[in-house]
Amino acid sequence: CGIVGYIGPKQAQDVLISGLSKLEYRGYDSAGVAIGDGACINVRKKAGKLANLSGELEAQPLPGTLGIGHTRWATHGLPNDTNSHPHATEDGRIVIVHNGIIENYLNLKEGLLQRGHTFKSETDSEVLAHLIEEAYKGDLYEAVRTALGQVRGAYGIVVTHVDHREIVAARTVSPLVMGVGEGEMFLASDVPALLPYTRQMVFLHDGDMVVLHDDGFRVTDLQGNELKRDIETIDWDAESAEKGGFDTYMLKEIYEQPQALTNTLIGRLHDETGEVNLDIDLDPASFKRISIIACGTAFYAGLVGEYLIEQLARIPVEVDVASEYRYRDPLVSENTLAIVVSQSGETIDTLEALREAKKGGAKTLGVINAKGSSMTRELDDTLYIHAGPEIGVASTKAYTSMVSAFLMLALWLGRARGTLSGQEGAELLSSARELPRLVEEALQPERVQQIKQVAEKYAQARDYLFLGRGVNSPTAFEGALKLKEISYIHAEAYAAGEMKHGPIALIDSNLPVVVVATESRLLEKTISNVQEVRARGGKVILVLSDGDTENAQHADDVLYVPRAHEMVSPVVNAIAMQLLAYYTATVLGKDVDKPRNLAKSVTVE
Ligand code: G6P
Repeated sequence: CGIVGYIGPKQAQDVLISGLSKLEYRGYDSAGVAIGDGACINVRKKAGKLANLSGELEAQPLPGTLGIGHTRWATHGLPNDTNSHPHATEDGRIVIVHNGIIENYLNLKEGLLQRGHTFKSETDSEVLAHLIEEAYKGDLYEAVRTALGQVRGAYGIVVTHVDHREIVAARTVSPLVMGVGEGEMFLASDVPALLPYTRQMVFLHDGDMVVLHDDGFRVTDLQGNELKRDIETIDWDAESAEKGGFDTYMLKEIYEQPQALTNTLIGRLHDETGEVNLDIDLDPASFKRISIIACGTAFYAGLVGEYLIEQLARIPVEVDVASEYRYRDPLVSENTLAIVVSQSGETIDTLEALREAKKGGAKTLGVINAKGSSMTRELDDTLYIHAGPEIGVASTKAYTSMVSAFLMLALWLGRARGTLSGQEGAELLSSARELPRLVEEALQPERVQQIKQVAEKYAQARDYLFLGRGVNSPTAFEGALKLKEISYIHAEAYAAGEMKHGPIALIDSNLPVVVVATESRLLEKTISNVQEVRARGGKVILVLSDGDTENAQHADDVLYVPRAHEMVSPVVNAIAMQLLAYYTATVLGKDVDKPRNLAKSVTVE
């Protein structure tokens, strides 16, 4: 979701609408504004794109010089007018916009209902408004702080109260940046929304709270301690600002992965019980078979899913590319669960394959990024990955979020079917929780630099070979696909043990071979395959777990990645694959965001 706030001499409506138009890429299920004119706060919100709202505001403007606005990417509750932001208390005196997910909102809501509060929407955000109302004793900042003390989850929130000429905001995982003007202050989820007004900005950190007045601001932590935050001057042009200061959307999205993964996992893992709560309305005990169906990168995420589900839940799984599944007269029954995987939810091959599975009587589940997309309307249920909008054609954050979603699905199925003990479940669950941090580590500058050097060294290669085993054989496939898509270097991927049955003939001293050889039960076997490559003069690029100096001796080049549990390692290892492809393509001067011949979402057969 996207958030904007304004306090100053201008008409707030204009600032909010212009800001939101720059944030529509963050979601466009609905949009809304709340504008204070001193006497009251008026809320106007509309389902659908921002144009619906701005059209209405043009016809009937809302006067006032203090306002907050929101463009929504629905998580809790349908994308309709009522569930749109801003949310107000019953008396309309407190109004908030919220970005993120409140994990314990159901518990909080129950308490509030018992204490006589009534709710208009199904959202977790409205719960926040009521909590603040309950805590309000004349000081808005203190009320927000008290309310947030009860909340678990991720949020960027912006709050205003009819009796105060101020805006109070706070953030944890969701981003917020403040713009500092002359006698006016701004807030937004992202820099481009503020650029037309000011270049003086303050990036709020996790756990920061801020109070905005016409002529200044105050930052504290959630305990109320004053904090010092520097004002930075942003010299980005509008285009680079949309890319968050990165050269390309793809790079921005690669770096967004810790946040995307947090959003995928949040609210779904329960440490206390070792359970995952996916809110899926299907009976996990009723399936005898699972078919995973997808295209492109989503297909490779599905291949990881196959390993995870078979290992942890002991159900037979098959994975198909959608265009094949559809026409091969697949064997489907009521005991089949068909899982379709798609970033866009629009890929026609996958959509038609879904229809085919339904025709055969299968139950259907989607692992999908785009809210309200065509597939979600036909599926029995959807497990959203919440990766946020992905603009770069080559998928990055959607892939790692899809793989993480499969990890949770495998845990859910395994626990429900009794194939996974509480202890194993708890161990995997804590490994899953580690993922955002591990991916953050995988993106450390020294590692990126190392990958960049390797990319440069082999950028003139005509072909590449990628190898991996077990749960990381799909990592090799995805690595080869990324390289092909954006650098146009021909790349093959094989399960490492299969190499000797054919592709070994390709090996000569011009062939770089990337081998995913991180910590696993099969590491020794993989290293034997590495020896086979070496014996034939191939150039070996090993992806190794941190600290593995022993196996480093078998490599021409090593890419170290953070150590991770084998079952979660495909997510961590994918980062190295993405960066290798990315830097190879940029060295070669390719347009990574819009590679030739490809489209982000393919709606033709
Ligand atoms: C296109 C894109 C690929 C993507 C595939 C599936 O071919 O170029 O990057 O993986 O579609 O897209 P979906 O939206 O269904 O995940």
